[in-house]
Amino acid sequence: MAGDFPLRRLTLKDAGAASAVGNSVDWDHSPKVWQHFIRWSEQGAYGITDWRSGELLATGLSIRYAQQRAWIAMVITHRRYQGLGFARRIMETMIDKLQKREIPEIMLDASSFGRPLYEKLGFRALYDVPYWQTVLPEQRLPDPKVKTIRRATLDDLGKITAFDHVTFGAPREHVLKTFIEEYRVWVDMRDGEVHGFLGAMIPKRRAASIGGWQHHTPDGAAALLATALRDLRGYAVSVSPPEASLNSHVESILKTYHFASTGGCTRMILGDVEPLEDRSRLYSIMAYGLG
Ligand SMILES: CC(C)(COP(=O)(O)OP(=O)(O)OC[C@H]1O[C@@H](n2cnc3c(N)ncnc32)[C@H](O)[C@@H]1OP(=O)(O)O)[C@@H](O)C(=O)NCCC(=O)NCCS
Repeated sequence: MAGDFPLRRLTLKDAGAASAVGNSVDWDHSPKVWQHFIRWSEQGAYGITDWRSGELLATGLSIRYAQQRAWIAMVITHRRYQGLGFARRIMETMIDKLQKREIPEIMLDASSFGRPLYEKLGFRALYDVPYWQTVLPEQRLPDPKVKTIRRATLDDLGKITAFDHVTFGAPREHVLKTFIEEYRVWVDMRDGEVHGFLGAMIPKRRAASIGGWQHHTPDGAAALLATALRDLRGYAVSVSPPEASLNSHVESILKTYHFASTGGCTRMILGDVEPLEDRSRLYSIMAYGLG
């Protein structure tokens, strides 16, 4: 059967078909977002196709953050083709390649559907990453009046990457660059030093996914969020903070803007490795799929 359903690398041309595989399981990443993921994966995106029709039936990719960490993402099997071993095949292929490269930390954010498979493959749970949502009013929200917060430019990329590296535990410059160039990033810059930053992906019209929200202090984190939300009036906004036991301030900040929690993912790592992370200044992960 494996011969009937060959596994191959995905290229940017597959973004539309990959988006359709996602749509079959109610994942709504647009072809543009898929292009970002395929580009970030640097040849690490795979798909299983039907050899006759060429139709893409399953996907999975990994994004490497230097030699330190790899993030597995977008593991999806088309609704009609589940239970045939496609996700396992893609996962085993990716893990094998990453282990040959001797990447010490192989991580992912698991949905409840994916978790049983990941556990069988040797991943263990680290902590929950819940999903919170709100719909902002059409009126402008009050200005937090913090003079040190502004929109980031590419000139800030090096310093933001260095700040994020300490929090996350690995460098994500290529991802942060796309966020600054194509989405939105705000930075709290005091005397030339980054004290925090917040990014927002705009996956579709009037929707924003806040991610990469980090600050030294809860007040600074709240001011960053207030600045971002002021620009996002009328948007449906989502954010994925680490579970409350890891950051006790985040829930009260989110409740100010009527965010409500609806499900989420579990952060996992392969094997007994402890990831390098400074969770004390983490208010939201970048995104499921990016860490
Ligand atoms: C999760 C998903 C990718 C699995 O794809 P799949 O191709 O059907 O998975 P496979 O056929 O390779 O099954 C893999 C293994 O997981 C097991 N498994 C899959 N779903 C399971 C479930 N709900 N409960 C228990 N075990 C499950 C299978 O029994 C199989 O075990 P085996 O290899 O030891 O026999 C698919 O359900 C999906 O696309 N879900 C929606 C998107 C999603 O949540 N993706 C995960 C993102 S983290």
